[in-house]
Amino acid sequence: MLLPIPDVLSADDLTRCRSVLADAPWADGRITAGHQSAQVKRNLQLPQDCEAAQQLGALVLDRLSAHPLFITAALPNRVFPPLFNCYRGGMDFGSHIDNAIRGDDRRLRTDLSCTLFLNEPDEYDGGELLIEDYHSTQSVKLPAGSLVLYPATTLHRVNPVVRGERLAAFFWVQSMVRSLEQRRLLLDLDLAIQGLRRQQGESAELVRLSGVYHNLLRQWAEV
Ligand code: NI
Repeated sequence: MLLPIPDVLSADDLTRCRSVLADAPWADGRITAGHQSAQVKRNLQLPQDCEAAQQLGALVLDRLSAHPLFITAALPNRVFPPLFNCYRGGMDFGSHIDNAIRGDDRRLRTDLSCTLFLNEPDEYDGGELLIEDYHSTQSVKLPAGSLVLYPATTLHRVNPVVRGERLAAFFWVQSMVRSLEQRRLLLDLDLAIQGLRRQQGESAELVRLSGVYHNLLRQWAEV
């Protein structure tokens, strides 16, 4: 399941990101790559502990924690501190699968991968995120401020950026619900309940359905 989530960052947030990133200490993107990824990764990345990454990472985490669709779709247990990257001048990232475990002190299992786009698609050519499913490849290039949430189990790559530059934040989520199928059922149920509540107001049946949602979550969640 690949889910676009719009409006994670506001226009003001994006202006702040762009101004901080303009003076940021970009480094070789292989600093955080695993063995296989390092051979196919050609981009720039902010060192995790630099002031710019810390500031903007905190901003992104704050906005995610207040975004209802992100919360209901990801059911986050823990979110990896966001990292920031830049592709320009033909840079790309070849096909790879993200490492299963991230972090040194506090380790996190990467159930979901996220890319948050920080500039507009018409500011660069190329730079599509290509996510491979068994039968098809989906191409993702979203408006600034939107993110895509996709299973970290999938092969993916980023096309070369041949004009302009592509700025993004990326991070991983350890979900309270490890199984993709279970998360998908919970998301469908939650969205259907919210839709019915908007259409019809509260009812005894909706209270029971909400109970089913929470009782499934209770069975499936690890916290
Ligand atoms: Ni990746």
